[in-house]
Amino acid sequence: MSVNPVRVGVIGLGSVFEKYGKLLSEHVMEGGVEVVDVYDVVAERQDLQSARFGVSSPSSSADALIARSDVDAVLVLTSMQQHGDLAIAAYESGKHILVEKPMATTLEQAARLVGLSQNSDRHMVCAPHVLLSPTYRTMYDHLQAGAIGDVKLARALYGWSGPWWGQWFYKQGGGALFDLGCYNFTSLCGFLGPVKRVTALVGTAIKERVVDGEMMKVEVDDNAHVLLDFGNEVYGSVTTGFTIQKYGHAPAIELFGLSGSMNMFGDDWAPRGFEQWRNEANCWESFDETAPNWPWADGINHLIDSIQQDAPTITRPEHSYHVLEIMLAAQQSAREGRAIDIVSDFPAPIYPEIGMADPRLVHDPS
Ligand SMILES: NC(=O)c1ccc[n+]([C@@H]2O[C@H](COP(=O)([O-])OP(=O)(O)OC[C@H]3O[C@@H](n4cnc5c(N)ncnc54)[C@H](O)[C@@H]3O)[C@@H](O)[C@H]2O)c1
Repeated sequence: MSVNPVRVGVIGLGSVFEKYGKLLSEHVMEGGVEVVDVYDVVAERQDLQSARFGVSSPSSSADALIARSDVDAVLVLTSMQQHGDLAIAAYESGKHILVEKPMATTLEQAARLVGLSQNSDRHMVCAPHVLLSPTYRTMYDHLQAGAIGDVKLARALYGWSGPWWGQWFYKQGGGALFDLGCYNFTSLCGFLGPVKRVTALVGTAIKERVVDGEMMKVEVDDNAHVLLDFGNEVYGSVTTGFTIQKYGHAPAIELFGLSGSMNMFGDDWAPRGFEQWRNEANCWESFDETAPNWPWADGINHLIDSIQQDAPTITRPEHSYHVLEIMLAAQQSAREGRAIDIVSDFPAPIYPEIGMADPRLVHDPS
C-alpha cells in the first residue's frame, strides 16, 4: 500500500465542491491527500480555494492543471457540458480521474473515456456514487441472496424544483435527465443489469426560469417519465424532473420480486434505510439507516482508496456509458414517439464483501 499522499488537482469549484472540498480536507488532515492545484474560470472561486488548501501556484487554465507532472488525480466538477473534454484530456495525460455526472454529454466522448479506461491502469470514478452507499450495498446483498426472488418490476423517483444557480443546467447539454435521472438509472441498472429498450415521455414543462437572478429560456428537458425494459419481462420506471416541489413518504426505489418486495427510503443519493417484505416471513422487515451521514460525494473516498490500495473500483465507466445511452435514448424516444433499443452493456459491480453477481438475478447482458 502506497504511503505517499495522493496529489489532487480540482477543476470546477462551484456548489458541488462544498461537499468534495470537505471530504478532501479530511483526507488532507489524515495525510492521505495533498491538494496541489485548483482551477475555476471564476477567479474568486480559485483564489478562495487556493487559500483554503494552501495551493502555492494555482494554474491559469484547466489544461495547465492537467499538464502538471505533480498531479496524480484530477477531479472534474464543472458544469456538465465540460465534463467529457476535460475528463478525456486529464485521463489521456495519465491522471486518475473522478468525473461528476454525466461522464460526458455525447456517446462519442463517453466511448472514448471507456476505451481509454480499458487500456490503462489509472482509475476512473464516475458520479453518481449511489452504488457505494452502505444501504445500497446491503440491499444488493439481500437481492443476491434471493431475499425477494427474481425482481420483475422496479420503480424509482428523484426530483426537485431545480437549481436557481448555473444557467448551464437549462441549456443544451444540461437538463433534468442528465442532472437527476442519472441517479435512478445508475441505481436500477446496478440492481438489475443492463437495459435493452427505452420508452419515454420527456418534455419542458416550465419554459422560462429565473436563474442567477435573470429570467432565461429553458432549452432542455425538465420533466420525464422513462420506462425501462431490462429483457426477460423485467420492467422499470424512473420519474424525474425539475418539476417536483416535494415528495412525502414515496420510496426512492421500489423493487418487486416474485417472493417479496424491497423499498429504499430517502433518496438513492441519501438513503434513509429500507424495508423488505418476504412471503416466507409474512411481514415487513425494517432496516434503519446505518450510515445517516454517508456523503453522496463518496466517490472521492473510493478513488483515493483505490489508488492507495491499488484495487479495482467497484463502479465501472461502462456502467456510466450505459446510463448516458439510456438518457439519450429517452430523449430520442420522446421526440420520435417510439421505443429505442439500447446496445451497450456493462459488467455487474463487484463488491469485495459480496463477490460476483448471480447472473440469474443481475440479468446477463448477453
Ligand atoms: N450542486 C449539487 O448539489 C450537485 C450535486 C451532485 C452533483 N452535481 C453535479 O456537479 C457538477 C457541478 O454542479 P454545481 O452545482 O457545482 O455547478 P456550479 O455551476 O455551481 O459549479 C460549476 C463550476 O464549474 C466552473 N467551470 C465551468 N467550466 C469550467 C472550465 N472549463 N474550467 C474550470 N471551471 C469551470 C464554473 O465556473 C463553476 O464554478 C454538475 O455535473 C452537477 O450535475 C451537483
